[in-house]
Amino acid sequence: MRIGILSDIHVDINYYDGDVDRITPAVCDTILNNDIDVFITAGDISSDHEITLDVIQRIEKDTGRSCLFVPGNHDLWNEKHPGTSAMETYSAMIEHPHNLAKGPVKLKDGWSAAGDTCWYDYSFGSFDLFSFNDFQRRSHNDRVWQDSIKAVWNKTDKETHDWFLRRLDASLEKTGSDKLVAVTHMLPIEEFTVPVPNDTWDYFNAFLGSRSLGDMLMVNDRVKYSVCGHVHYRKEVVKKDKTFYCQCLGYRTEWQDNDDPFIETTRSMKVITI
Ligand SMILES: [Fe+2]
Repeated sequence: MRIGILSDIHVDINYYDGDVDRITPAVCDTILNNDIDVFITAGDISSDHEITLDVIQRIEKDTGRSCLFVPGNHDLWNEKHPGTSAMETYSAMIEHPHNLAKGPVKLKDGWSAAGDTCWYDYSFGSFDLFSFNDFQRRSHNDRVWQDSIKAVWNKTDKETHDWFLRRLDASLEKTGSDKLVAVTHMLPIEEFTVPVPNDTWDYFNAFLGSRSLGDMLMVNDRVKYSVCGHVHYRKEVVKKDKTFYCQCLGYRTEWQDNDDPFIETTRSMKVITI
């Protein structure tokens, strides 16, 4: 079975000519060109959950392949739905059968995918420079972390993080498979954070993931692959018997010497075989 991995496709931020989605067709072409059996995307499909669910449906219809996903923080934003809480948006998405936050999905004999959005607990921030209270402010040098405005959980980030961690742990347990692909939007390992010292990211790394997420995956012998997004890197790290992927398309403005969505989806999609 060939699994295609690509996260943070941000179809709306990457619109062409104002409102044309050239990303979804490019993703579909890349899935078909690579003979992918199952496509996995670890969130940030768009910044509006209705667009996100349309994109998932379109990928599955146009390729005939399953598209497994977890919502990213952007998918939960309420810019287009003022007053909506992150939990309401999360709940609106959860009934999709290929949303791994609903529950694990069997890939093939002995293999399942399980996952969830997960959240951050500030543990990747630079605590030699900032305190927990500084991170709780969620703004630094005139930059406001947008989740504080657009993904409103009505709980602290730590409480949200702990709630997700318990959910993911239960979901990993539920599969019954002895080999797992764990999918989270947030980062489980420090190697995927932005290198420091860095004036901006010494602070904002706090909002990228958590050490305890990585610790939980590391002690689970059944987890063979971990897939995340969020930081718009394309990186792979092997730790013991596990391979961690951060495999992102990212924003058009971040692409190197290229503005062609098909070239960039081809460059950035990772294929693993199980
Ligand atoms: Fe993103």
